[in-house]
Amino acid sequence: MTEEASVGRVEEVKSKALDELGSIESLEQLEEWRIAYMGRRGQLTQILRGVGSLSPDERRSIGAAANKAKATLEESLTQREQALKDAVVADLSESGAIDVTLPGWPAPLGGLHPTTRIVREICEAFTFMGFQVVEGPEVEWDHYNFEMLNIPKDHPARDMWNTLWVDYTDENGETPMLLRTHTSPMQARIMENQSPPVRVIVPGKCYRYEATDATHEWHFYQVEGLAVDRGITFADLKGTLFEFARRIFGQERKVRFRCDYFPFVEPGVDMSIDCFACSGKGCRICSDTGWIEIMGAGMVHPKVLEAAGYDHNIYTGFAFGMGPERIAMLKYGIDDIRLFYSNDLRFLKQF
Ligand code: DAH
Repeated sequence: MTEEASVGRVEEVKSKALDELGSIESLEQLEEWRIAYMGRRGQLTQILRGVGSLSPDERRSIGAAANKAKATLEESLTQREQALKDAVVADLSESGAIDVTLPGWPAPLGGLHPTTRIVREICEAFTFMGFQVVEGPEVEWDHYNFEMLNIPKDHPARDMWNTLWVDYTDENGETPMLLRTHTSPMQARIMENQSPPVRVIVPGKCYRYEATDATHEWHFYQVEGLAVDRGITFADLKGTLFEFARRIFGQERKVRFRCDYFPFVEPGVDMSIDCFACSGKGCRICSDTGWIEIMGAGMVHPKVLEAAGYDHNIYTGFAFGMGPERIAMLKYGIDDIRLFYSNDLRFLKQF
């Protein structure tokens, strides 16, 4: 039932409410008061609900008065609530129970995972040199993970990647889907979709069918890089990676390139930096060699350019790939890769 409404009735309810509010002593009482006037069946709510069925004239005057009364009551409620809360704090502080002048407890913020940190640092070093950051799918086709990278079916080079195949058989009875074993498939995907010049950096998760130990995980990150344009040479590769190494491991770093084999580059190399811990004298970190391998790289193989639709007589490029966990292990002296993904807060909190 709605009440008989009039402007007078609105005023009456309002002043009664304000009167009562003055003598409220606790937050519980304040809540009861709110319910009594502005709750679902509250006195003012009832009046507001009845406004719709009044004559247009009455509706205008009574409606306006009721809305105004509601605003007044809401404002008074907020003020009273603050006053009551302040009084509680003042009481506690007077009795010595709390010292309100002490700074509060800081809310724990958490931190970035060490892999996230290092991936960002790596990407930053390359974006500074004009590379764009691109990401790709973790579930990949054999076509991109291998074939487009000059690794045909049944080629022995496939042994370099221990692959996790997805349980999916296509109409030819083949199982062409896998968890990508490296971020290199993005080389082909990018070149298929974009004409040169290309300068990209691809961070992302990779997976391998691997027995885990201190230096092997079955999932890990890689950061891939690709630059293709007219006239790119091995000197560009060296200059770019040298600059990267100095940004991450210190301005005085030296780099070393040695021949290595990856089917998608020719020539292929592995890049090392001189050991930042012993400056090349030989120590535990560099296994007494003075050098630390940090990535694979090379000039993009003509077959890879061709497969993606680039004319290898016009364009050349370089590519590289590195494991950010390995970079972080070297940089922060972490001796077991499994620490990254075992969710041990004692490890994670150190970063
Ligand atoms: N994808 C390679 C791996 O997983 C790493 C790599 C080597 C990437 C040489 C490259 C490269 O782009 O040129 O072992």
